[in-house]
This record gives sequence, C-alpha cells and structure tokens, in this order.
Amino acid sequence: MDTIIRNGLVANSEGTVKCDILISEGRIKALGPDLTSDGAEVIDAGGRLVLPGGVDVHTHFDLQAGSHRAADDFHTGTIAAACGGTTTIVDHMAFGPKGCSLRHQEEVYHGLADRKAVIDYGFHGVLQHVDDKVLQELEEMTRDGIPSFKAYMTYDFRLSDSEILRAMEAVKKTGGVLTVHAENHEKIEHLRKTFIEENRSEAIYHAMSRPNLTESEAVGRLIGLSEMAGWPNLYLVHISAKESLEEVRRARKNGARNIFVETCTQYLTLTEDKYDLPDGEALKYIMSPPLRKQSDVDALWKGIADGDVQVVGTDHCPFFFEEKLMFGLSDFTKCPNGGPGVEERMRILFSEGVMKKRISMKRFIEVTSLNPAKVMGLYPEKGNLMPGADADIFIIDPEKSGTFTSESIHGAAGYTLYEGMEYMGEVELVMQRGRVIVKDGIFLGSEGDGRYLKRRTTG
Ligand code: URP
Ligand code: ZN
Ligand code: ZN
Repeated sequence: MDTIIRNGLVANSEGTVKCDILISEGRIKALGPDLTSDGAEVIDAGGRLVLPGGVDVHTHFDLQAGSHRAADDFHTGTIAAACGGTTTIVDHMAFGPKGCSLRHQEEVYHGLADRKAVIDYGFHGVLQHVDDKVLQELEEMTRDGIPSFKAYMTYDFRLSDSEILRAMEAVKKTGGVLTVHAENHEKIEHLRKTFIEENRSEAIYHAMSRPNLTESEAVGRLIGLSEMAGWPNLYLVHISAKESLEEVRRARKNGARNIFVETCTQYLTLTEDKYDLPDGEALKYIMSPPLRKQSDVDALWKGIADGDVQVVGTDHCPFFFEEKLMFGLSDFTKCPNGGPGVEERMRILFSEGVMKKRISMKRFIEVTSLNPAKVMGLYPEKGNLMPGADADIFIIDPEKSGTFTSESIHGAAGYTLYEGMEYMGEVELVMQRGRVIVKDGIFLGSEGDGRYLKRRTTG
C-alpha cells in the first residue's frame, strides 16, 4: 500500500516547501502539492517539518575495547538512534585479535548486527596493521560494499605514518575513504605518564593530557601525508579543536583536496568544565578527544555555518557508569573512553543550531544527513528527500520542547551526557523505507528490520 504524508513543511537539499510526499514500495515516488494514490494510507504532518532521516556515520555499537564492552549492542543502539530521528548508521568495527585480517572483523560484525539492527546499517573496516595482504583485502572489501576504512594514530593498534601513507595510496586507487582518528600518541602518552607519576589522576587530567595541539599536529601531519598520496578521500573523525579546523582551512586554501571534517554533538555543546563534576560524574565525559573550551565550541559552529565542517556524527560509544567508576575513579587513564549520543544528535543540532540561528536548515540537512550519505557512498538512496530515495523520514515539531533526562532516553547505558538540557523540536514520527518505526516517542519497529547497506566508492 502506498503512503502519502500530507501537510508537511518538507525540507530537503533544495529548500523548504509546503508539499506532500508520496511513498511507494519503501521509496519516495513524488514530492508535490495535492498528491493522490488510490487506497493510500494518509499521514497528516500537520504543518510540521518533514526532514530526511539522520545518517550517523560514527557509532561504536558492541565495541570491545580491551576488557571493556560498549553498553549498546546493535539492537539497543539502533533503537536509541531511531528514537532520535536517525535512520542509518555506519558503525566503526572494533579491533580484532592481534594480526587478524580485515575480513575477520567483517564476519564478526555481521554476526553482531544482522537480525538485530532496527535501522539500516553499514560498517567501516578497521586497519590495525598494514601489509600487502591487508591492502589486498581493502581492495576486495571496497568492491564488496565497504569502501571506508578507519586508522587510529593513537591507542594500542595505532598505525605508523608509513602505514597510513600506504593505506592512503590504496584508498586513492580504490576511490574509497580513509577515516582517521588524529591525535599525537607520543605526546599524549608522555603527559599521561607524567600526570600519573605526580598523582594527578582526576578526570580533568584526561583533558590536560590531550591538549588541542595533540589533535591539530596530527591533523596537519595527515594532510601532509594525504598530499604525498595524491589527495585520497580523507575523513577526519571527531574534530574538536579550533586549531585543527585552522589547519584544514589553511590547507584547503593552498589547494588541498578531498578532506572531509567531522565533528560530534558533544564538541558543539559541552565544555571541559564537565571534568570538575563531583561524585565520579566527570568520568561520563572521558572520551578522546576530550571536551574543550567555549572558544573551540564557537569555532566548530562557525565551521559548520561556513562550510569548513562537512559532517556532525556522535562517536556513540557508551560504557556503564558503574564501569567508568570502577576503573576510572582512582586513575583517569583506566577509564573506558567514550559516551552516548546517537539519540540526542538530531534534536541537539536542530535546537542549538537551527532554532538558535547558528546554522540554516540547509546546513542542518547537509551535516546530519546529506553529506555523511554522500561521503560514505550511501547517496542517493540515503541523505535526501527526493524521488527515488528511500523513504527514511523524520518529522519534527519545532514548537514542542523537551528535556534530555536519563529516563527519556533509550540507550542501554541509562544516562545522557545532556542531562537537564532543554531543546526545542520534538520527534513526532520516524519512518524507515516507508514504515513508521517511531511515533510520539514510542518505538514501533522490530529487531532485525534494519538492512545491511553495501556502499559504493565516491572518489
Ligand atoms: O573516546 C572515544 N572516542 N571512544 C571511542 C573510540 C574512538 O576513539 O572513536
Ligand atoms: Zn576516535
Ligand atoms: Zn569513534
């Protein structure tokens, strides 16, 4: 049966107009006034905003990091995403056993996500070492629908500059994307060691051991490597420091190409004063890179408005508070890194961005849906409301307010980093491929309804 969404204020990459949307077989068939179809189910949007479903290309569901496992699996994590208006995720696979192949993790992740995810999903490959075999697998996996690969410049499985360069050369050849966590490992390790030796073990030293320069230096180095590799698609994940943006801006001015900047909701709304919270609450905010200063927050919003930032993701990677307390209370270096956010992103960006007039509706759509879909090879099925696209739709009431609380969110960790934050714009309805999966805050979908997305190259 076809569906018609009537009386919507429909916003897409072209602009915002009052019109109907006709949906047939899970896809958008037409946009326009007074659409009809015999026997169609009619959903009255009541003049509310009808937007493309969110695309979050930076989550870590089921992440195993050392002895810690992220609280959300692909079932709870995708329910949380759906309830917040996100209809597609691309998850970063965790590291596998030392020396394992790229395919090993792909198999593990299909085991974790298939028949569990409630929204559509894909995976980024993870590079934990680089050799001829890995590079051959990278080429094969790209052909098979995984065109993006993650490299870390810090943590145990960090890659050396020469490994990153080899990966960039391979990605240049395939037309895929290298996504990189950019931080200067040596400097961070030195600071962490020094702080612990001096008994400075509280959460604030997490932030102090990862100052802005540790990020921006790594960003600058990556840009240099990228130039040497002939400008492959380089996607900088979770950029948090204003100096990193300056590096990218300068490089682009000087001819750098194919650099994509992602920041995350938390770096646009929270600052390092969270690390002073009492009773271990500060540990909830231990993530890498850390929360920064208001001047960084302001620079990132400006970066979105000016077009320097292409994507806003979440880096959703929550751990139970009890686990953070148990490991991190006496030593910040032992606290599992990461926090929740997949459910809050769309409303925060809408409220703090569009409603507060920091960014336009067009930029909102670009950074939350269109650009991530394009960069990660999901467009035109995902990322926009247009004929032929999947009917992944998010209806928001801009006049309805809400407050984030641990009771109102769906993630398994049971807390939100935005406790008590008020927002304007409530989720009314979320649709995936034409099926209503969330209505008035109630999840109506089913486990396993999400589809695995084979993605294409864009380079
Ligand atoms: O602290 C964070 N961000 N944890 C998740 C893994 C990563 O670095 O993206
Ligand atoms: Zn990271
Ligand atoms: Zn991450």
